[in-house]
Amino acid sequence: MTTRILTGITTTGTPHLGNYAGAIRPAIVASRAADADSFYFLADYHALIKCDEPARIQRSRLEIAAAWLALGLDTDKATFYRQSDIPEIPELCWLLTCVAGKGLLNRAHAYKASVDKNVEQGEDPDAGITMGLFSYPVLMAADILMFNAHKVPVGRDQIQHVEMARDIAQRFNHLFGNGKELFTLPEAVIEEDVATLPGLDGRKMSKSYDNTIPLFGSAKQLKDAVARIVTDSKLPGEAKDPDNSHLFTLYQAFAAPTQQADFRAALEGGMAWGEAKQALVNLLEAELGEARERYQALISKPADLEDILLAGAAKARKTATPFLGELREAVGLRSFRSEAVSGASEKKKAGKSARFVSFRDDDGSFRFRLLDAAGEQLLLSKSFADGKAAGMANKRLQSGDALDVREQDGGFGVWLDDECVAQSPAFADSSVSQAAIQRLREALAPQE
Ligand code: TRP
Repeated sequence: MTTRILTGITTTGTPHLGNYAGAIRPAIVASRAADADSFYFLADYHALIKCDEPARIQRSRLEIAAAWLALGLDTDKATFYRQSDIPEIPELCWLLTCVAGKGLLNRAHAYKASVDKNVEQGEDPDAGITMGLFSYPVLMAADILMFNAHKVPVGRDQIQHVEMARDIAQRFNHLFGNGKELFTLPEAVIEEDVATLPGLDGRKMSKSYDNTIPLFGSAKQLKDAVARIVTDSKLPGEAKDPDNSHLFTLYQAFAAPTQQADFRAALEGGMAWGEAKQALVNLLEAELGEARERYQALISKPADLEDILLAGAAKARKTATPFLGELREAVGLRSFRSEAVSGASEKKKAGKSARFVSFRDDDGSFRFRLLDAAGEQLLLSKSFADGKAAGMANKRLQSGDALDVREQDGGFGVWLDDECVAQSPAFADSSVSQAAIQRLREALAPQE
């Protein structure tokens, strides 16, 4: 069993050391596990909710993409893409919007905080609040549910959103799943042992406090930022208290245990703050120097980054396109082409409820699946160049004519006019395969 891990990064800023230690580094480590199937993406639609400066959005997308790649994300293993390159996401967002309770969204912290602030200031409660902000959790639910993620690593402020995604998924499953779990219920993952880095002033490192250390600034920018770290006024030679020094906390986040112990001893032994800062600069240089070079190389070739991200989007859509097809089918947005046929299968449904699901593959071709009553796939059709041919084949399978079923590839194929038009998955053994053929025959048997 693989675990599908998914997380998004809102593209409104320049990546800083806090993003690296708190999110990027652990995500890249997690993506390397043998059983991990990771989906990491730039949440650039979410960025539009918070930012109306196009140049800043664009710059941030570029920088964040380059940062993840420079830090070693393997895009052959992980799926790395921009949210805005997946049109299925806003489409799913609408399907979810239609089941998400307004009351649920009223309770979202981010929205509530804005309302509270307005009220405090004697403004209209909804002053300056967009529908984007209000619906933010539904878009996030679409991000997560589109790929049936199991685990969603997020900061604490995002736990509520993942819980809302679960709520919305449950409701959708209940309404349209016909007993089947259309959506996997996601779980938020908070990495307890991941450092929340303090910023230059000791508060949490955050763009909104303007206390960050840029991840890939020049060597000089790094040095200048570290020089601004606030320390107490103990003189060189005086013992320092590492546990009350956020400079030490920063150092700890990047140092091996023995380095940490040495640094602690040196501070307690009276090391000057200036020297301590230089030690931190050296440590960060060792950690990030090479990645910075890769970052500069990547960012100087934006067209190459574009190609990498488009390839990531194509990979993501291999999952998203057929799945959205199933979801459209589930809510009743179905092709009219199979109408006569599905009228018949509607009747059949009462008894056996096997169903055909038509969808378009990402190469634009037309395909269909036959799912049995339990939602297990019995057949997946070949790719048809046009919808009419797919519809015809689909119709002929349901015509009640004798089926030409041939065992092949560990399962079976269904043939029309000497052509294999649909295939079953491979089964564990021939008895399982025989049972599936039996279910297929029942599902397609003429109605009495
Ligand atoms: N809202 C998240 C944040 O600001 C970013 C995000 C968007 C996200 N979609 C997501 C995170 C889906 C996890 C899963 O941090």
